[in-house]
Amino acid sequence: MDSHQTDSQTLEIRQQFPALRQKVRGRDLVYLDSAATTLKPQSVIDRISKFYSLETANVHRGAHYLSDAATDEFEKSREAIRIFLNASSIEEVIFTRGTTESINLVAESYGSFLNAGDEIVLTEMEHHSNMVAWQVLAQKKNCTVKYIAVLPNGEIDEASIESTITSKTKLVAFSGCSNILGTLTPIKKIVSKARSVGAVTLLDAAQYVSQKKVDVQALGVDFLAFSSHKLFGPFGFGVLYGRKELLDKMPPYQSGGSMIHAVDFEGTTFNHLPFKFEAGTPHVEGAIGTLESLRFLQQYNISALFEHEQRLMKIAVDELKQIPEVRLIGEAREKAAIVSFVMEGVHHADLGQILDQQGVAIRVGHHCTQPLLKKLGITGTARASISIYNNENDISQFIDGVKKAKRMLL
Ligand SMILES: Cc1ncc(COP(=O)(O)O)c(C=O)c1O
Repeated sequence: MDSHQTDSQTLEIRQQFPALRQKVRGRDLVYLDSAATTLKPQSVIDRISKFYSLETANVHRGAHYLSDAATDEFEKSREAIRIFLNASSIEEVIFTRGTTESINLVAESYGSFLNAGDEIVLTEMEHHSNMVAWQVLAQKKNCTVKYIAVLPNGEIDEASIESTITSKTKLVAFSGCSNILGTLTPIKKIVSKARSVGAVTLLDAAQYVSQKKVDVQALGVDFLAFSSHKLFGPFGFGVLYGRKELLDKMPPYQSGGSMIHAVDFEGTTFNHLPFKFEAGTPHVEGAIGTLESLRFLQQYNISALFEHEQRLMKIAVDELKQIPEVRLIGEAREKAAIVSFVMEGVHHADLGQILDQQGVAIRVGHHCTQPLLKKLGITGTARASISIYNNENDISQFIDGVKKAKRMLL
């Protein structure tokens, strides 16, 4: 696909998502909740179904054909993810349950190296998933959590990067793309400042992976976390990328089968990377489904997909700005197609319900960013998040729904 996504290409993409063929509440489904989870293409659904129908076997331990075949596919997925992230080795690709578990793994394992008085730096726009684990660690270790400020327009305050990251900072964990504001953060600036004080970095790429080409080596991050379900893949599967040098030093996160080298009554020696961090039977179909979702994505030019979403966002934003009661939340210059807003005098839950009655799926609430909302002086937003399968018709049904909600509720 070239750099511009045409209407026929959008149609071709839409046709690969069976969920879009259904009616919801008697209307064609308009799915604008892709930041929560993306819909799944037929190829991913078929791949997982085929695995369960014909190929079911456990990996890494069988002495039979199906187990060998499942292991091959499972490890093929690791190599595909390595290429997707441009990690230098498959040892750096740890399979987890998702972004949340990846972050917990680092907090628990790398966190064991932190000492009293050390500082952990986050940003004010973090998802709870990238906040609570660090607060728990800080409490356990007597460390302090500090926050890089967010400006009223939703951008990161760059002066705050400079003042918040100091010689006391040992770890900086931040999102590449905010799930509520859509803001694309200045990753390289944050990484460069963190490096200048010798702190390690963790990039929460839960939203970022569907927006931009990821290259962990070019970005210079030490850890990166993402979930397959936000990238057209299955639920319950995700990845932690970690630099080998750090992962080698870190203690295991969970213990059990697979993560061991040898077990004796007296003690245990641990497996090499990446298996040291993969205790127990893994999410085999998660890995295999993710391999298929990466194959699906590879058909397209990611920057063309991004531009398509940006064009639809612009239409939505221009329309919303015509409604005087609507206030947009998050207007960073560089942002993903995530449109958060409040309507004065209307509770976001009522707005969501009225849109739902029109077959329009959005998300309403705090979006797991309660501290940011408190700072902004609001309790929640309505959020429409746009993906590669959305089209102009989706946006106009969404806008019609918002106008109808205004008529009914104000
Ligand atoms: C920015 C961000 N970080 C972390 C998460 C947590 O992802 P998961 O629930 O898949 O672990 C999300 C999910 O919405 C997110 O948007």
